Amino acid sequence: MRIVLGVSGGIAAYKAVEVCRRLVDSTHHVTPVLTEAALRFVGAATFSALGSEPVPEGLWSGGIPHTRLGQEADLVLVAPATADLLARYAVGIADDLLTATLLATRAPVVVCPAMHTEMWEHPAVAENLATLRRRGVRVVEPASGRLAGGDVGVGRMAEPETIVAVALAACGPQDLRGRHVVVSAGGTREAIDPVRVITNRSSGKQGHALAAAAASRGARVTLVTSSSLPAPAGVETVEVESASDMQAALQAVASDADVVVMAAAVADFRPKVVADHKGHGVPDLELEPTPDILAGLVAHRRPGQVLVGFAAETDDAVGRARRKLEQKGVDLLVVNDVSAPGAGFDHDTNEVTILESGGGATALPLRSKREVADAVLDKVVARLRGSTGDSA
Ligand code: CTP
Repeated sequence: MRIVLGVSGGIAAYKAVEVCRRLVDSTHHVTPVLTEAALRFVGAATFSALGSEPVPEGLWSGGIPHTRLGQEADLVLVAPATADLLARYAVGIADDLLTATLLATRAPVVVCPAMHTEMWEHPAVAENLATLRRRGVRVVEPASGRLAGGDVGVGRMAEPETIVAVALAACGPQDLRGRHVVVSAGGTREAIDPVRVITNRSSGKQGHALAAAAASRGARVTLVTSSSLPAPAGVETVEVESASDMQAALQAVASDADVVVMAAAVADFRPKVVADHKGHGVPDLELEPTPDILAGLVAHRRPGQVLVGFAAETDDAVGRARRKLEQKGVDLLVVNDVSAPGAGFDHDTNEVTILESGGGATALPLRSKREVADAVLDKVVARLRGSTGDSA
């Protein structure tokens, strides 16, 4: 999702840094837009480093139309929103890039007021907020606590975690609300000795994007991951290392899940014996297969549970995957041709075909891993509706 993160000039601007980081960790594209006053509290360099693109310089820079960011955004989030910013937005002033973006957008807008208690309680602020609410703007209410200058009271900006959760829930369908989605991600690491491992090239990006997308669609998400990527916002994360750790962690949560997505690249083999201290010289490794986690999940699936497998292939990708889908007994198999340019391991984009049991096949041209995640979840939602008899 393309998110414009507007930051106006209040002490809470320092907390917007954390909001930015969390949104980027959840695989969104974040453009930070700071007002002049915001720049007195935090430097553009901080947001440029954490955001997905540098902080644009203002209305008059670079020949970019002042409406572009607003038109392209899927969400505009303003944190903190000062009394002044809310007033300018409410009356339709567009004299800087942030207010111009707010007027030019048709995307959901979420504002997070932050100000002193006296200002928060002033009728002018209350009326401006009422106007904005009437127009569909969502407001993340401030909390009570320490304010700038040593004051204490209502007006303190909500915490970043809350802001991110409300903002993401404000856009997109909530078609996984009430569902528990379990996702595995990353390449497992199989120990040779206390220092060395056997692993593969998987980064975990596709699995983390799936977890983040499911959370934004309202699901309770458990992510079982061996990736070093940061955990997406609002997702319960279980960190694992080896295939057997992953199997144990998944078994513990899968019985309660409506959906299990095996996006992890589980190592296919591991050393039969793990040395208990670091060996010297070239070891003579005897390998054995790892447990087939997906097969275990299929064998113990609960009625109505949707199971999704992934397949990384390098030749005759779709043909091999169709046979794999049947043999594994999953509902959906997402096939990655890892030899295609821009697709598969460690890229931010992916090119996949989604195969369905019963015959469907949807080829998706190269797109972001987040978009691939949403396309997979669209199919999952259709399956869930089918199995519960809901209408689509
Ligand atoms: N998988 C698993 N346990 C394993 C190996 C793979 O659960 N020990 C899962 C993966 O997470 C993926 C699916 O099985 O969802 C297919 O993985 P892939 O490695 O492509 O298939 P394999 O079954 O290992 O077949 P092969 O390597 O022979 O192509």
